[in-house]
Amino acid sequence: MEPVIKVQNLTKTYYLGSKAIQVIKGVSFAVHEKEMIAVLGTSGAGKSTLLHLLGTLDTPSSGSIHINGSDMMSLGPDQLASFRNQTIGFVFQFHHLLPEFTALENVMMPALLQRVAKKEAAVTAAAILERVGLRDRMEHRPVELSGGEQQRVALARALVLRPRLLLADEPTGNLDQETGESIHELLFELNRQLGMTTVIVTHNPELAQRLGRSMVLCDGKIGNDEDGSGGQIS
Ligand SMILES: Nc1ncnc2c1ncn2[C@@H]1O[C@H](COP(=O)(O)OP(=O)(O)OP(=O)(O)O)[C@@H](O)[C@H]1O
Ligand SMILES: [Mg+2]
Repeated sequence: MEPVIKVQNLTKTYYLGSKAIQVIKGVSFAVHEKEMIAVLGTSGAGKSTLLHLLGTLDTPSSGSIHINGSDMMSLGPDQLASFRNQTIGFVFQFHHLLPEFTALENVMMPALLQRVAKKEAAVTAAAILERVGLRDRMEHRPVELSGGEQQRVALARALVLRPRLLLADEPTGNLDQETGESIHELLFELNRQLGMTTVIVTHNPELAQRLGRSMVLCDGKIGNDEDGSGGQIS
């Protein structure tokens, strides 16, 4: 079967004035349907950069990314935006909620962009907010929520359209252990129920172990890619 993500010889170099900063230095890997994978690595290793590239929020310097068999580089901006909204749920390291909207409205937004009727979007958004433990916070705006609550709203927003692929950048990094674990349970459940392929950047070794596959980014390359059986995937 076609992998959900296929990355070949991917590189990303940022330019600051005359200075070139090579962040991703040629990585290749595939992630298959229903797989859950942890991306590990020290601060500055390029984890968020890689996730943004996979999420088509940033463009590679070279190499290719196929998602569900489609070459991301061949899509125009409008096609890309629509593809992204329909296929990929993204939880950012910093949540990027819309400040002037309530939690419920923030979570409804991807559905409204897909022209789901407002009432239906509200019902779906409310159900997922309840699932992340925010039943009593739906009418709060982001400034009226704690950091962890904001992160849970961002997760709910990423999940509202039940994406085929979830890309999450330290989704439970700011949460207490109990709340973090309940969010992890939700991700495992969605993976089981919907077959949602999930890539999670995490510093949490227990989560990484449970996910079954861990890929370590080290100095812009994949240092290690293991499926938990002790064998290497390449
Ligand atoms: N827009 C940019 N311009 C120049 N350099 C950048 C830019 N974005 C990121 N970098 C650099 O690229 C490197 C990788 O950044 P990235 O955010 O991917 O790291 P990370 O692995 O997610 O780290 P952390 O665990 O701290 O979140 C860092 O050294 C960073 O300074
Ligand atoms: Mg990061």
